[in-house]
Amino acid sequence: MQIKSQLNQLIQRACERAEIPAENVQVNEAGKPEFGDYQFNGAMALAKRLGRNPREIAQSIVEAIEENEMLDRVEIAGPGFINLHLRADWLAAGLDAAARDERLGVGRFETPRKVVVDYSSPNMAKQMHVGHLRSTIIGDSLANLFAFLGDEVIRQNHIGDWGTQFGMLIAYLEELGEGAEGSLHDLEEFYKAAKKRFDEDAAFADKSREYVVKLQGGDVRCLHLWENFIDKSLGHCEEVYSKLHVKLTREDVRAESSYNDDLEAIVKDLEAKGLLQESQGAKVVFTEGEENPLIIQKSDGGFLYATTDLAAIRFRVAQLGAKRISYVVDARQAGHFQQVFTVARLAGYAPEDVQLEHVSFGMMLDKSGRPFKTRDGGTVKLIDLLEEAVERAKGAITQREAYSKEELEKIAEIVGIGAVKYSDLSINRESNYIFDWDRMLSLEGNTSLYQQYAYARIRSIFRKYQGEVTGEVKIGDELERRLALKLLQLEDVLRAAAREAMPHYITTYLYELATLFMKFYENNPILREDVPEDLRQSRLILARCTAETLRLALEILGIKVLERL
Ligand code: ARG
Repeated sequence: MQIKSQLNQLIQRACERAEIPAENVQVNEAGKPEFGDYQFNGAMALAKRLGRNPREIAQSIVEAIEENEMLDRVEIAGPGFINLHLRADWLAAGLDAAARDERLGVGRFETPRKVVVDYSSPNMAKQMHVGHLRSTIIGDSLANLFAFLGDEVIRQNHIGDWGTQFGMLIAYLEELGEGAEGSLHDLEEFYKAAKKRFDEDAAFADKSREYVVKLQGGDVRCLHLWENFIDKSLGHCEEVYSKLHVKLTREDVRAESSYNDDLEAIVKDLEAKGLLQESQGAKVVFTEGEENPLIIQKSDGGFLYATTDLAAIRFRVAQLGAKRISYVVDARQAGHFQQVFTVARLAGYAPEDVQLEHVSFGMMLDKSGRPFKTRDGGTVKLIDLLEEAVERAKGAITQREAYSKEELEKIAEIVGIGAVKYSDLSINRESNYIFDWDRMLSLEGNTSLYQQYAYARIRSIFRKYQGEVTGEVKIGDELERRLALKLLQLEDVLRAAAREAMPHYITTYLYELATLFMKFYENNPILREDVPEDLRQSRLILARCTAETLRLALEILGIKVLERL
């Protein structure tokens, strides 16, 4: 159920009836309980525009609100705030309906779109790094979210598998022969060793350059070496995906190299459209407000990262039919995307009805605020990081004695991986993110473990209860009321998170929900014998709906729950 848009419509119609020219009326959640559940604060701005008294405007709006089942009371406060109080029986009925629905009352988009989510997209020459970890986690949760709300999601792993460094890498791969398998285990080391050979041995360097040319020319043997290398490198990434329970498969890989044959055509097309200019021998497109043009083709004929991205946009719109393309890539590439998007619009690859967005995110920092590195300044191997998360999770599970070794392993995996994902998703993605083991595995605060405990706690109530839940929701006290309202806000939260590509809206909501539930549960016993049966039934529905909401929202974020913890 969408509460806000229903209220917006009520107020919008009231304005029309009162002949107040208001556009795009928006209510907000009230800042404090005494201001009601929602507020409409637009009367002041309207009054200013119309040269009228704000309280008078507010008064006319309130008087013009039509008969409805949602609102209990409407009050005018201060200079003209309109405070909206929802009816308890309306909340109860809404919750009864949501509790019976497997989507918990969450609808689907009226006009679903085809959405491409470009995420993870590591470079094959090197080890996947923490920036790709963030992209993978954020991107996967957004893809899940869009799909849940009804969009047709196409995941695209735009891996970097082309470029001059591959000449060096395959030359080295060939040189190692049989011994290569073992060395490819650590890509970082492999790259370093190849680079060392390249710098120290002129003959090897020549051969590397020759292999680049051969590779580009389609030489079968070089292509074979290259494919073998990419396969191994992608295998490393897939280990990480599977540990992370991320839904990326080989089918989602559309590598940079798959656009190679389109690049020449892009240049011709931009030329034909009069967008291309020569600058210092290179072919470039100048875009408004940018000092440096976007380079499309270098003077030596080579193409660039941006050229491939233009080809990819063209493909995604024309072939895949995308209406929204979300690039989950770190903030340092903001300039790149801005320019690529501008050129894609100018060239007509992305018409106005296609939304292009850079879902940017900040850096991952260590506890002292420095870029996340190993002690000796190297890149952290992600697989090691994830394994450490699972190990540390064992320490965070309070009842660990109660489990067998295998059980503990399984639980620690869900808790540890959940913690890594949740802590990343729970901050505004645009900020830098401080990676802190203690905080992410804490039982207190906005963590996955807190949610997982809340879920398991509710499940334990139902194990004890065992009976059927047959009654209906009755809102008794303020805590029940607030819990019911929070539960019914799920759809508004999911839609806002999807619209703005902001997963942390969901985690903030989950934290509020779990906290509210804990308070409710402390004050409103469920199974205690002296609780009247109709109240017990109502509270059971509230509890179950809370558990289902936690489970569903965490699942969208790619985090699992446990029946016992
Ligand atoms: N491979 C790039 C990198 O690691 C990220 C690619 C992002 N996607 C894109 N379409 N440019 O920086």
